[in-house]
Amino acid sequence: MNTNPYETDELVAQYMEFHYGNSYFEVKNYPEKCARLCLQLMEKNSKRKALDLGCAVGRTSFELAREFDEVIGVDLSARFIECANQLKEKGSLPYNITDEGELSTLHTAQLSDHQLQQIKGKVSFYQEDACNLGAHHQNYELIFAGNLLDRLQNPEQFLSSIHHYLSMDGILVMSSPYTLLAEYTPRENWLGGYSIDEKNISVLEGIKKVLDAHFIMVNKPLDVPFVIRETRRKFQHTIAELTCWKRIR
Ligand SMILES: C[S@@+](CC[C@H](N)C(=O)[O-])C[C@H]1O[C@@H](n2cnc3c(N)ncnc32)[C@H](O)[C@@H]1O
Repeated sequence: MNTNPYETDELVAQYMEFHYGNSYFEVKNYPEKCARLCLQLMEKNSKRKALDLGCAVGRTSFELAREFDEVIGVDLSARFIECANQLKEKGSLPYNITDEGELSTLHTAQLSDHQLQQIKGKVSFYQEDACNLGAHHQNYELIFAGNLLDRLQNPEQFLSSIHHYLSMDGILVMSSPYTLLAEYTPRENWLGGYSIDEKNISVLEGIKKVLDAHFIMVNKPLDVPFVIRETRRKFQHTIAELTCWKRIR
C-alpha cells in the first residue's frame, strides 16, 4: 500500500484547489505568488531554463514559463505529476473538493482562466526524486523548491548537492514554513529548530551553514502566507519564509 499522503484523492483535490481554485481569506494564490517573486528576484538574469522541485500539480512551473524559455517540474508523487501533465495536454482538469463528510463539489481547473494556455508547451513534468536527480538536470538558471525542504528525509544532503544542477550565478529560491515533522524528517536530520548549549539554532541558520560552501543569500527573507482549504469549514493558514541564494562557487 502506498502511504505517501501526496498520492491520495484528498491531497490531490486540496492541491488542485490550492493551485488553480479560489483564494480564501484574501490570501493571494501561493504558487503564483512564489513564481512572481522568483521572476522579480531574477529580473536582470537570463531566463533559459528553470527547475521547479516538488512542483505538485504544477502551477508555479506554468507561471515561470511566462518568462522562462523552458521549465521542468519534478515531483515524487505520480498522482500530482499525472494531474500536471493532464492539465498541460487537455488544458483543463476536473476535481472534487470536500465540503463535509462524503459531500463534495466538482470544480474544474482551466489553464485558460489564468492565461497559461499559450505557454504550456514550454513546460514539462516528470516524476522524480529531488534528492536523486538524473545527470541530465544541468545548468538551470533558477531552481525553485517550494515547501519542499521540510518534506525531505535528509535536507542537508539535498542542500549540499543542489549547486551541481545550477549554472554559476544561478539562483536558488526556497520557501518553507519549517514545520519539522518527524514523519518526514527524522529529528537527527533537522537543520535547526532546537538549542545546543542554551543557544537556539533556527532552520534558517542551519540552511545558511550548509549553503555557505557555494551560495550567498541575496535578499532579506520574505514572509509569504498561504491558505490550503481542507473542507468548507477547515483551512490551514501558514506563513512560509522565502529565501533567495546565488551560486558563487
Ligand atoms: C508541501 S508540498 C508543496 C508543493 C508545492 N511546491 C506547493 O507549494 O504547492 C511538498 C511537495 O513535495 C513533493 N515531494 C516530497 N518529497 C519529494 C522528493 N524527494 N522529490 C520530489 N518531490 C517531493 C510532494 O509530493 C509534494 O508535492
